[in-house]
Amino acid sequence: MKKIILITVISSLFLFLSGCKNKETARLIVPDNYTNWTITADNLNYPIPGHENHFRRVFINSTGKKVMTEKKNGRVFYNYPKGTIIIKEIYPSLNPKPETKPISLSVMIKDPDNPKSRDGWVWIVKDLKKNTEKIIDYEFCYDCHTNANEPHPYGDGNPNGDFRDDVFFPYKKGN
Ligand code: HEC
Repeated sequence: MKKIILITVISSLFLFLSGCKNKETARLIVPDNYTNWTITADNLNYPIPGHENHFRRVFINSTGKKVMTEKKNGRVFYNYPKGTIIIKEIYPSLNPKPETKPISLSVMIKDPDNPKSRDGWVWIVKDLKKNTEKIIDYEFCYDCHTNANEPHPYGDGNPNGDFRDDVFFPYKKGN
């Protein structure tokens, strides 16, 4: 009898804890105050394959500016610290007016311990109209972003094939 009570207690505790966990993931985690962060890429007004035509701007938080770099065999290896947040604003068209607001945010948060992280980053799409955030833990964001770790057609093109930790426009000291 005691055993049964114990099992009941343990399983309800488990249900209670897993309930909390679900709430945890539904919580909004993208900060609103990113517009005073450092910009790593502006004036992105060319279309990218697989994306519709939208003007984009990219911001990085102060933790991300502490990115560690190491040179090995002529390649630079970037490693963003845990807590790095990179936010890409997506605008409704390729040439928005100055007063036009972004419609969504594509977000990377360095958090390798998060079970939903892929390649060390949590990948999020925030819908700014509905104020909802969706974590993308299936192959989509990160498999395209591994292209950033070799020469690619965007920004400076990464001609030396540096390992850029999945980031196309790396933070460069002095930005
Ligand atoms: C087809 C390839 C592709 C896919 C898929 C993709 N991205 Fe990107 N992403 C890019 C490119 C290229 C850039 C460089 C900036 C630009 O041109 O917009 C970029 C830039 C970014 C940046 C700014 C940091 C950087 O790399 O410079 C963030 C944040 C981002 N993407 C998040 C996401 C998220 C979240 C997803 C999934 C919902 C996603 N991306 C899916 C290609 C992709």
